[in-house]
Amino acid sequence: RSLASPSAFSALAADSNAPKQPFVIGVSGGTASGKTTVCDMIIQQLHDHRVVLVNQDSFYRGLTPEESERVHEYNFDHPDAFDTEQLLDCIQKLKSGQAYQVPIYDFKSHRRCSDSFRLVNASDVIILEGILVFHDQRVRNLMNMKIFVDTDADVRLARRIRRDTVERGRDINSVLEQYAKFVKPAFDDFVLPSKKYADVIIPRGGDNHVAIDLIVQHIRTKLGQHDLCKIYPNVYVIQSTFQI
Ligand code: CTP
Repeated sequence: RSLASPSAFSALAADSNAPKQPFVIGVSGGTASGKTTVCDMIIQQLHDHRVVLVNQDSFYRGLTPEESERVHEYNFDHPDAFDTEQLLDCIQKLKSGQAYQVPIYDFKSHRRCSDSFRLVNASDVIILEGILVFHDQRVRNLMNMKIFVDTDADVRLARRIRRDTVERGRDINSVLEQYAKFVKPAFDDFVLPSKKYADVIIPRGGDNHVAIDLIVQHIRTKLGQHDLCKIYPNVYVIQSTFQI
C-alpha cells in the first residue's frame, strides 16, 4: 500500500477536467491459449462499465485469389498477415472516444466480409485480444495494461484441433500440418518473445479465477481513481497498489 504523493495527486486532479480516456488492455498468448475466455470473464465482472472487445483476427488481410489457391502455403501466424496500420487506426480512434467500424473476418473463406462491419462504440474499457497484439510497439504504447495468457503447448494444440475441425471447417491433417509448419515456429519467433512486454502473466488462462479477480480489481481501481478525481479534485486519496 502506498499513499499517493501530493504531486502525483495534483497531476491527477489537474487532469480531472480532461475528457476521460478509455483504459486499454492488451491480451496476448499463443493460439487457443484461452485469450477469449479471459476477456469474457473480465467483461462479465466489469458489467457496470462500458467494455468493448476488439479481436486482432478482425484485421487479417484478405487473401488474393492466387494466395487462396495455395492457402496451405500461407502463414497466418506471421505479423505481416495482419493489417496493423488499420488496427492502430482503430485503437487510436476508440481511445480518443470515436466509434469504429471493425471488419468481419471469415476463417472458412480466409476473407473479410466486404459489405458488413461491426460498429464498436466509445467505451470506458477497450480490450484488444490476439496472438500478436504486443508485436508492434505503436500498438503496445496505446495499452494501459498488458496481459499474457500462458497455457501449455499440448493443451493449446488439443484445443486448436478441436476448434479448427468443429468451427473453422478444417480436417485434422491440415490442422497438424499448419501447426508444425507455421503456428509453432511463429509462436517461438514472435509470440513468445513478446511475452516480455506483459505486465501480468496468467498461468492456465481462463481456469485461473484468482488472477482474473486481481486483474479486475486493478482495473476498477484505475477507473475509480479517475472518477474520484472528478468528484473530489482538492483532496488526497489513499491509493492501494498491488502486483500479481
Ligand atoms: N488462422 C487460420 N486461418 C485463417 C486465419 C487465422 O488458421 N484464415 C489461425 C492462425 O494460424 C492463428 C490463429 O488463427 O494461429 C489465431 O487465432 P487464435 O488466437 O487461435 O484464436 P482465439 O480464439 O483468439 O484464441 P483463444 O483460444 O486464445 O481465445
